[in-house]
Amino acid sequence: MPAAAISEEAVRGALLGVIDPELGDNVIDLGMVRRIDIGEGGDVDVTLALTTAGCPLRAQLMKDVRLRVSSIPGAGEVRVHFGEMTTEQKKSLMAQARWKAREQAPATDIPPTARVVAIASGKGGVGKSSVTANLAAELARRGFTVGVLDADIGGYSIPRMLGLPGKVDAAEVGGRARIVPLEKRVGEGLLKVVSMGSMPGAEEDEALMWRGLMLNRAVQHFLEDVRWGDLDYLLIDMPPGTSDIQMGLARMLPRTEMLIVTTPALAAQKVAARAADMARKGYLRVAGVVENMSAFVCDHGRSYPLFGSGGGERLAGQIGAPLLGTIPLDPAVAAGGDAGSPAALSDTGPVAEAFSALVDQIVEEAVPPVQMATCTARIFEAAGGNLAP
Ligand SMILES: Nc1ncnc2c1ncn2[C@@H]1O[C@H](COP(=O)(O)OP(=O)(O)OP(=O)(O)O)[C@@H](O)[C@H]1O
Ligand SMILES: [Mg+2]
Repeated sequence: MPAAAISEEAVRGALLGVIDPELGDNVIDLGMVRRIDIGEGGDVDVTLALTTAGCPLRAQLMKDVRLRVSSIPGAGEVRVHFGEMTTEQKKSLMAQARWKAREQAPATDIPPTARVVAIASGKGGVGKSSVTANLAAELARRGFTVGVLDADIGGYSIPRMLGLPGKVDAAEVGGRARIVPLEKRVGEGLLKVVSMGSMPGAEEDEALMWRGLMLNRAVQHFLEDVRWGDLDYLLIDMPPGTSDIQMGLARMLPRTEMLIVTTPALAAQKVAARAADMARKGYLRVAGVVENMSAFVCDHGRSYPLFGSGGGERLAGQIGAPLLGTIPLDPAVAAGGDAGSPAALSDTGPVAEAFSALVDQIVEEAVPPVQMATCTARIFEAAGGNLAP
C-alpha cells in the first residue's frame, strides 16, 4: 500500500508543537515558518526563519521539527533549513510574542522550557502510573525539577506511589487563587505533584463520578490554576483509554509528547496502537514506547517472560516510534508503589537498572531537557534592532 500523501495542514499541525523556548510560543504562531515543501515520496522540507543565525537553539529547533514532522504517518525524510529574519520580520515577531503575552494572559503557568510528556496506554492496568512515578523519581534524583500532573481524576494513584499523602494549599498569585503543588526533594532534584487525591476533601476510596467534560475541566484546572513555577519536565499520568482527555490536552498544550506504555503480550498491541493513533489525530508526537511487565528475572538471573514477549518492539515498529525501554515484571514495583518509595530509587536491582536505562534514553535522545544557559544573548540581539515598543 503506498503511503498516504501527507498534507501541509498535517505539517502545520505538527509544528504547533514546536516551541521557541525563549519566546514562549510555537513556531507557527510566531511566524517563523517560511516554507513547507512536501515532495512526492513524503519528504518534507521546512524552512524556519530565526531572529539571529547563530542561535544555539538552532540545533534544538531542528531536532524538534524533525521529530514532530517525521512522526506524521507517511512522512519521509524531514529536512530543516534556516533563514534569518529581516528587521521588519523581527519587529513583527516581537510584536506577536508581546501580544500573546499580554492579550492571551498565559493560559498555563507551565514554563515554555519544560518538556511535557503524557504517559498513556490503550487499556488500563498496564502500569502507566507506576511508570510515571518511577520516571519522575529517577529524573528528580538526577537533579531535574519534575512536575507530575495526575490526570486520572477518578482513579488517581500518584500521591500514594510517590509518598505524598498531604493536601495542597492555595496561594494568591497576581490576584488569583492558585493551587500550590505538593513538593518533595529527591536527590538533587524536586518533585511537584498535583492530583485529585491531593485536593482537600478527596479520599482515595471515594468514587468520583466524573464524565468526559468534567474530567477535561479538572485537567484544565490543573494546567491553568496551578502555580507550577520552574520545571524541567512535566509528566502527565493519563487515565486509562479516555480519548476526551487526550484531545483536550492536544488543544490546551499542543507541545505534549506521548509515551505509550504497553505489556509484552502481542494481543495488547492493537489497543496500544489505538492510543498512538489518537495522539496523532491531535498532532501530538509519540516520543516512544515503554514495555512494562516484561520478563521476570529471578535472583539467579533467569528470565521468565510470564506475559509473553516482543509486544513493545512490535508496537514500536508498527507506529514508527522508538522502544525506549523495557521494565521487568517485579514485585518491587508494586511494593515500592504501595510504600510511596518508587523502586527506581533503589541502589540496585533489575527495576532500578531498567528505569535508569529508560531515563538515559529520554534525557539523551527522545525528550532531552531544554538547555537555555547559552541563549539569552539572542534575545538581546533580537531586541537590539530598535525593537522597543
Ligand atoms: N513492572 C511491574 N512489575 C510488577 N507489578 C507492576 C509493574 N508495573 C505495575 N505493576 C502493578 O500493576 C498494577 C497496575 O499498575 P498501575 O496502577 O501503574 O497501572 P495503570 O496503567 O496506571 O492502571 P490504570 O489504568 O488503572 O490507571 C499495580 O498494582 C502495580 O503495582
Ligand atoms: Mg493509573
